[in-house]
Amino acid sequence: MKIFLDSANINDVTNAYNMGAITGVTTNPTIISRENKKFDDVLAEILAATGPEILVFAEVLALDAEGMIKEGRAIAAKSSNIVVKVPALAEGLKAAKVLSSEGIKVCVTVCYSPTQAILAANAGATFVAPFVGRLDDIGENGLNLVQDIRDIFDAQGIETQIIAASVRHPIHVIELAKMGCDIATMPFKVIQQMIANPNTDRAVAGFLKDWEKVPK
Ligand code: E4P
Repeated sequence: MKIFLDSANINDVTNAYNMGAITGVTTNPTIISRENKKFDDVLAEILAATGPEILVFAEVLALDAEGMIKEGRAIAAKSSNIVVKVPALAEGLKAAKVLSSEGIKVCVTVCYSPTQAILAANAGATFVAPFVGRLDDIGENGLNLVQDIRDIFDAQGIETQIIAASVRHPIHVIELAKMGCDIATMPFKVIQQMIANPNTDRAVAGFLKDWEKVPK
């Protein structure tokens, strides 16, 4: 399963990229707002800090299809690595259809149901992003939504890739990988939690201590 970073923070991007952990960076308007920098500057910084294999996701703000298409074209023109995010609304699907037909990679985001995912795929979206953690937050099981979409896409031979978004902890990551989710996007904190293990720390410290006993 591919891992994407869900952050626009340049330190997080650089760290995750240098670890070889990620092949994509996802943003949304909230994530961009945390950086206190202009949207264009944030995107340029992320693109400059990463290699040509990294996809960078940026979301439109318009609520009508015409506005989303205009914004999407402008965002996509910045780099061939850009993926345009549109919301899982009727207007978003209209925009996804047009932008996809122009060869622009589109992610239908804020997906909360299997039916939205089916429509996103039919509209030509390259990616669909179900929000796992936010469903958990309201007492539903976000992982079940991803499993449903996985089952449907497999049964129908749909090639749209599933990006599990709103991933909150390593157990989400493990379960998503087991069910064959294509991609999980997560904050840097979760990537750090994935690598952290006190046994590894203890083992490394023990090796260093024992090395002191080796005659020099
Ligand atoms: C994807 O890019 C989503 O915007 C993101 O994963 C939302 O995550 P949150 O629920 O932690 O804000």
